[in-house]
Amino acid sequence: MGITLIAMPFDVLAPAKVNLFLNVTGRRDDGYHLLESLFVFTGLADRIDGWSSELPHIHVSGEFAAGVSADQANLVLQACELMRRESGVAKPMSFCLEKYVPVAAGLGGGSADAAATLSALNDYWELNWPQHRLLSLARELGADVPACLIDKPVIARGIGDELSPAPALPSYALLLANPRVETPTPAVFKAFARANPAIAARSLPSLPAGWDSVAALARDLAARGNDLLPAALSVTPGITPVLEALRGCERVAYAGLSGSGATCFALFATDEDANAAGEALLHDHAEWWFWWPDKIMG
Ligand code: C5P
Repeated sequence: MGITLIAMPFDVLAPAKVNLFLNVTGRRDDGYHLLESLFVFTGLADRIDGWSSELPHIHVSGEFAAGVSADQANLVLQACELMRRESGVAKPMSFCLEKYVPVAAGLGGGSADAAATLSALNDYWELNWPQHRLLSLARELGADVPACLIDKPVIARGIGDELSPAPALPSYALLLANPRVETPTPAVFKAFARANPAIAARSLPSLPAGWDSVAALARDLAARGNDLLPAALSVTPGITPVLEALRGCERVAYAGLSGSGATCFALFATDEDANAAGEALLHDHAEWWFWWPDKIMG
């Protein structure tokens, strides 16, 4: 009897990002915007299994599977092809992607999937490439992919790909909500460019070495805000009630928009506060999508 060898799969998580503030500081000649943004990562994540196979393949499941292509346009397959080209590994890969991060929602779901694939394949194929080599591949896959590869709080500048460590953060908790309306990033940047044909140079409030309380962090987030908010509202007006509801939560320190939306976040001092606010909001707005620290997804 013949023996079939089944390659051991890897199994990684791809955490969603939240932009606690996002300022647009300029525009490049190619139309990309220059940003200054604080990225943090959440307990909300997609899950990717991958194994060596005869043909490249991806199977997508999970709540948001319908929003993701299962062909070469998928960022997991793109990241894999890029790694194969660079490394010369001939054998294709198959993947199962469980999609729990809403798509086109300002949470960097696709970017996180691409970043997790790069770093998983670096281990799986025992390439041992240093981080700077993976970061330069990440840049080819999208502006947010380098930050997702770091997967720790970072300040992003340039088009989002020049990274430095974030100021020290206090312990905090996030509640995430959106109106379940896909809000493609290019549409929001286009609306921003129409409304801001010229971007005047301005000095942004300086960043401290660290924030020692959620109240201090909230004050600085309020001073920075998210410059894409008006453009995001023009693309997805349903953001307004979500943001208002988050601002009205008990014990909320600050609420804002993540990235180009439509996901909004509320900042709390403790998981208990974020969990309680989430449960209360879901009761009144069952039609919205939510995530909070103890929410069971899937
Ligand atoms: O790089 P990524 O694919 O995530 O960007 C999607 C689109 O968002 C770009 O095609 C561009 O229109 C816009 N964008 C931008 N400035 C950035 C990042 C993205 O204008 N810094």
